[in-house]
Amino acid sequence: MSSTVTENPTTGPSAEESAHPIHPSHTPSGTIRLGVFYQGVNSTTVWKAPESGDQVAWESFERLITTAERGLFSAFFLGEGLRLREHRGVPLEFDVAGRPDAQTLLAALASITENIGLVATQNTTYNDPVDLARRFQSLDLLSDGRAAWNIVTTDNAWTGENFRRGGYIDHSERYVHAEAFVDVAKKIWRGEDVDHAGNHYHVRAGGKLPRSRQGEPVLFQAGISPEGRDFAARTADVIFSPFGDLERAIDFRHDIVERTLAAGRSADEVRIYPGAEFALAPTEAEAQDKLHWLRENQVGPEQAIALLEQYWGRDLSEFDPDGPLPDVKPEVSESGVTRGAGFQFKKAEELTREWREEAAEKGLSILEFARSRQGSRGSTFAGSYDGVADRLAEYARYGAVDGLNITPWLVPGGLDDIVDELVPRLQERGVYPTEYTGSTLRENLGLPPLD
Ligand SMILES: Cc1cc2nc3c(=O)[nH]c(=O)nc-3n(C[C@H](O)[C@H](O)[C@H](O)COP(=O)(O)O)c2cc1C
Repeated sequence: MSSTVTENPTTGPSAEESAHPIHPSHTPSGTIRLGVFYQGVNSTTVWKAPESGDQVAWESFERLITTAERGLFSAFFLGEGLRLREHRGVPLEFDVAGRPDAQTLLAALASITENIGLVATQNTTYNDPVDLARRFQSLDLLSDGRAAWNIVTTDNAWTGENFRRGGYIDHSERYVHAEAFVDVAKKIWRGEDVDHAGNHYHVRAGGKLPRSRQGEPVLFQAGISPEGRDFAARTADVIFSPFGDLERAIDFRHDIVERTLAAGRSADEVRIYPGAEFALAPTEAEAQDKLHWLRENQVGPEQAIALLEQYWGRDLSEFDPDGPLPDVKPEVSESGVTRGAGFQFKKAEELTREWREEAAEKGLSILEFARSRQGSRGSTFAGSYDGVADRLAEYARYGAVDGLNITPWLVPGGLDDIVDELVPRLQERGVYPTEYTGSTLRENLGLPPLD
């Protein structure tokens, strides 16, 4: 779901008018923070732009993280993919370039930065808790208290084959497993002797490293099933969500506050950072032109067909990208033509029918429909610098989110206009920090210190 921002902030939905009011127990902080999600392998970045760099070159990481730190960003965030995805039996082009191991890379980036948080996505299904806990604690010590773990449960059996384990944990069991994993990790961090004999682990180990300046790594979580939300409500400090549109963000906040209270924690204990993409320009008209250019360059005819093939689970190459959506049924299977995309095919028939109806109603071709889907993992803020700053000030006022996790569509220069043009306007509006609160990630996210 993508939303474009208008010049006039009063035209957006207001929390008062929304069907989903801000939860009465939630106290908005009145501020908004920013993080950057460096995806590496992805279909969001316009790699063919002349100013585009290399997705695995040190210079690309260096420039992005130093720009983010200049803009007082809370965190630099890396995703994880444990097996090369395949599309119709051949490795997906984006993945072939690969991505460096997150913790190795973040340890190197720690040495050229001072305040920005360093977040590594690591899954609980295929890692080992004792080893992973020790690696995170090492990063936390090396960075002097700036490490965070984005906990994911990576839910496809196909990735599991890469670990000779197949789909050995049912989806419903993944968070039970994750909780045992995090329990063990926390004991290691706290220097406790672990003697854990549960359904998921038999571990006898002890912590050996001192605690870092922030005590232990901050816990992020990304996964939006009811089990994932409850897990976050019990365990996480921050949620990386795909709900950036104001109304959906308010709704998600409401849901998370309810679950957090039910878990016996206070209403505002879990911070929420949805994914976001920005298309900024001096004027609204220029920004809309930029967004149009962006979508054309992110999604061409081949990508549009490939996107639909993921959901239909079959070869759709005979269909015209400028024609209507395929009027054929999806081939329902557990893993589709793009393996490792994380898509559950259970609802393929329903979803593809809805898409066909939506495209027909709006008069969209395959290509136009695929472009309209781009940016669906977060929210798109397209508008003038002042218009977007006004809009974000509105988010801060309602407390819909605590921050936004930006996916730049250009690497490595994709944060330049955000830091040079948007951040000062947010500061003028009093909704963005003017300096780092402290030197640890916990402090810079506004989280309370650990006991
Ligand atoms: C915004 C967002 C980003 C994510 N990034 C990754 C990632 O980089 N690597 C990964 O393995 N899982 C990632 N995931 C998480 C998996 O999709 C998640 O573990 C899986 O969907 C199972 O959780 P769920 O059923 O609760 O959604 C991400 C999820 C969200 C919402």
